[in-house]
Amino acid sequence: MPVRNVVLTGFMGTGKTAVSRELSHILGMKLVDIDAEIEKTAGKRIADIFSESGEAVFRDLETEAIRRCARTGGQIISTGGGAVLRQENMEALRGNGLVFCLDASPGTILSRTSGSSERPLLQTPDPLRRIIELLEYRRPFYEKAGIMIDTEKKTPLQVAEEIAERYRADTQG
Ligand code: S3P
Repeated sequence: MPVRNVVLTGFMGTGKTAVSRELSHILGMKLVDIDAEIEKTAGKRIADIFSESGEAVFRDLETEAIRRCARTGGQIISTGGGAVLRQENMEALRGNGLVFCLDASPGTILSRTSGSSERPLLQTPDPLRRIIELLEYRRPFYEKAGIMIDTEKKTPLQVAEEIAERYRADTQG
């Protein structure tokens, strides 16, 4: 039987990148980062795609990368925070994987994302306000994305171990 992917979704700063690295070690599965795939294909950084071409173009590149990467099994797939917004993204990811959604409070998200200029959506004078607004709009999408995992006050390794356990139970189950 083909090995299903482990897919990580969740808002920016919920720890997808750090947790996916730990998971890749624990489960011995290749790591695929959708943002990195987009940057590779476009030959540009995410921030430059947003500033030069706009969010709509970025979302199309994201859908294309997800469709391509989801075809292969046996991988840890880490998505960008907005991947949940398009139903076709989630259908492609679910079709070949078990989807988890990482969660954290706005304050924790702010402290994990501050100091980085990599996230165009949070480049505003009041990033906490933006985080709260975006989370409010996206909450229903995250809730139906997959198995919700609270990351508050946990290390990436602890979160990865929790996910690996759920994945193994589900796969053997
Ligand atoms: C985005 C999240 C980012 C990146 C882009 C848009 C979003 O990824 O895909 O800046 O819409 O939430 P991370 O969640 O890995 O920061």
